[in-house]
Amino acid sequence: MKSLQIVLVQCQELASAEEITLSKSLNISIIVFAQLTSSTKFYLRFSNEGLSLFLNEAKAPGAVSVNFSQASMQRRMKNSISKQGIVKAVGIKRSNLPSIVDGTAGLGKDSFLLASLGCSVTMYERSPIVHALLADGLQRGATADAAVAAVIPNLQLRNFNFDATIKLDQSVDVVYLDPMFPESKRSARVKKDMYLLQRLLGGEQRARSKQENQRDEFNLLDAAKNMAEKRVVVKRGKASPYMGACKPDVEFKGSSNRYDVYLSV
Ligand SMILES: C[S@@+](CC[C@H](N)C(=O)[O-])C[C@H]1O[C@@H](n2cnc3c(N)ncnc32)[C@H](O)[C@@H]1O
Repeated sequence: MKSLQIVLVQCQELASAEEITLSKSLNISIIVFAQLTSSTKFYLRFSNEGLSLFLNEAKAPGAVSVNFSQASMQRRMKNSISKQGIVKAVGIKRSNLPSIVDGTAGLGKDSFLLASLGCSVTMYERSPIVHALLADGLQRGATADAAVAAVIPNLQLRNFNFDATIKLDQSVDVVYLDPMFPESKRSARVKKDMYLLQRLLGGEQRARSKQENQRDEFNLLDAAKNMAEKRVVVKRGKASPYMGACKPDVEFKGSSNRYDVYLSV
């Protein structure tokens, strides 16, 4: 039997309208849990946490979903927010709320943090699976507690590859990039969410040579520089090389991350 990379597992004996719509839009099979075999690497399933992504392995970490109300997200928003590297790198001040394009939205955590400060953020996510998780999280966020629901109107989501062909509706101050994936040694395993995303999406990056990846990064950075009126901010691992081997104008170093800033001329 052909192995399936990903399927949607329906919750009841009969698939719901929501499940059927999602399986059609992602063009993936919909099955009951008993039909799941070890040849399928990942599965999606609706649960109390909303749409969740599971790795179908014995020692897999728990599921990943987008939940802006979760404790870690709330802690990050309260934790001396103005002193965080990302906020300084983007240049947010009470008197300056730049418009932002997040070219590599992922699970939307960075975008949500920036939007919670009042910035309008347009998110681009090219993976249809990650886009579906994010769209589901935004939909639930809109009816979540008041503090989360108030942030959702500041976020727009697009299912596109962010590259030089993108035509923006209006000019944008800052382009923010956090592309896949820092090389992670097993001992310093990336957090569960990023580990699952890395397993789902990192194959393409691993299959390409270092030079090809560097050229892709250079092109992505170049596209971002051409769009940003004020600056491009790139999130990197603390010891990761510069994106596309381009030295930034300013660097903000945190305990595990670095934010490289390329100022527009
Ligand atoms: C490391 S994750 C981003 C995590 C995100 N900053 C967060 O806070 O959740 C990178 C994401 O960027 C997406 N991505 C990478 N290159 C992209 C591109 N050129 N256009 C759109 N999405 C891209 C990947 O599919 C992946 O979901």
